[in-house]
Amino acid sequence: MENKIDHFKEKSKSWDMNSKIVQNAQAIAELIVKNIKLDRSMKIMDFGAGTGLLSYCVAPYVGKVTAVDNSPAMLLEFQNKCDDFVCETEVMEKDLSVENIDRQFDGIISSMTIHHLEDMVALFSKFNDMLKVGGFIAIADLDLEDGSFHSDNTGVHHFGFDREVLEKVAKETGFKEIRFDLASTINKPHQTFTVFLLTAVK
Ligand SMILES: C[S@@+](CC[C@H](N)C(=O)[O-])C[C@H]1O[C@@H](n2cnc3c(N)ncnc32)[C@H](O)[C@@H]1O
Repeated sequence: MENKIDHFKEKSKSWDMNSKIVQNAQAIAELIVKNIKLDRSMKIMDFGAGTGLLSYCVAPYVGKVTAVDNSPAMLLEFQNKCDDFVCETEVMEKDLSVENIDRQFDGIISSMTIHHLEDMVALFSKFNDMLKVGGFIAIADLDLEDGSFHSDNTGVHHFGFDREVLEKVAKETGFKEIRFDLASTINKPHQTFTVFLLTAVK
């Protein structure tokens, strides 16, 4: 059997105990709820769902959340919380840098995950394929940073993103109504980092 490394195995146990991580996910969720017209019939994917901090806050506004992540340890934490979600939930262990999901969702949300994948054109094309016409993406991640956000950059492919570059990627891969907003600010002892929310429609 293939031996895959779970980069989030150790972090998963204490993920929800970090107040900065929790507050960041809550701020992103609040902005998604404000900017996107959600309804209880919608089936959405949370890409890189982790322990479910983002989708837990969005759950009251949608019908179903499919948590997609390649870390079995993070997904186990998600599963342990499923009963507390106020919408239907489903868990899929998938690595979207190499795998596909043959399904069409009403929307895709994501927080602090896309910097872990190298090829943005490939990823956004997959997002497009996995959406119904008129479906949305709401993707949050770091603005460009100097590489000091993570104490260990293993598995980090981008030190944040240039919004203009990401806008081009979204356009190229078939998205419209592309918009960026400031979702959150993360204060670390040495620096302050900003997190954008990119929203767009297929
Ligand atoms: C920084 S964590 C964010 C978790 C959660 N979204 C949050 O805000 O608390 C990034 C998550 O993305 C997942 N991830 C990284 N690369 C991935 C990939 N190629 N396919 C699926 N999930 C991935 C990790 O396992 C991890 O759970």
